[in-house]
Amino acid sequence: MSQSPNSQNKNAELGVELVTHALSEADLNDLCDATDAAIKAGGGFGWVQLPSRDIMERFWRGVVAMPLRMLFLARLDGVVCGTCQLIKPPANNEAQKHSVQLTGLFVSPWARGRGLSSLLLDTVEQEALKTGFTVINLDVRESMTAAIQLYESRGYELLGRHPYYAMVGGAFVEGRYYTKKLSAS
Ligand SMILES: CC(C)(COP(=O)(O)OP(=O)(O)OC[C@H]1O[C@@H](n2cnc3c(N)ncnc32)[C@H](O)[C@@H]1OP(=O)(O)O)[C@@H](O)C(=O)NCCC(=O)NCCS
Repeated sequence: MSQSPNSQNKNAELGVELVTHALSEADLNDLCDATDAAIKAGGGFGWVQLPSRDIMERFWRGVVAMPLRMLFLARLDGVVCGTCQLIKPPANNEAQKHSVQLTGLFVSPWARGRGLSSLLLDTVEQEALKTGFTVINLDVRESMTAAIQLYESRGYELLGRHPYYAMVGGAFVEGRYYTKKLSAS
């Protein structure tokens, strides 16, 4: 009997890590596969058109190389299948040195519904606190209902809406802005 991908192997091992070194070829390849699949499934984290593989590889290598970005990877049985980033404020922005921007959160469609994005956000919030940040800001398209449910269930507070937030298929898509005040538990 056939099973949907999300109902297979319920004992699969979940993992999330902060990237502290250059990506291996295998991880880069899996990350590009996950990005490719998530864009084809509707994106929601920036890309609308699928970029060529070399652009995607350069993008992820660039993320790892940028001092102001923290890259997190989610794994299912060791395979990279999701990600999230934190963008730190530049050093001159002393007034906002407490806050960090969350961006680029997605899980590949085949790995969804197993708690990986919750685990990603647990790790992201812990690492943000450890790095000295007490506020996480983020924005999301109104159409990304799973992500909105995820953020609201974790205490992200809706700040407002932007009617011209994104342009997809020649039409504006509304966006939402959220914030969360972190506290050590
Ligand atoms: C949003 C997304 C990251 C969720 O990933 P996931 O690993 O499947 O999520 P989890 O299994 O960890 O679920 C955590 C919570 O998210 C919410 N959620 C996840 N999938 C959902 C869905 N299909 N419908 C409604 N809520 C959903 C629920 O609150 C869920 O908690 P629960 O299981 O206790 O109900 C994933 O659907 C995705 O990549 N979406 C496209 C990209 C995107 O929208 N990114 C956000 C850009 S800001």
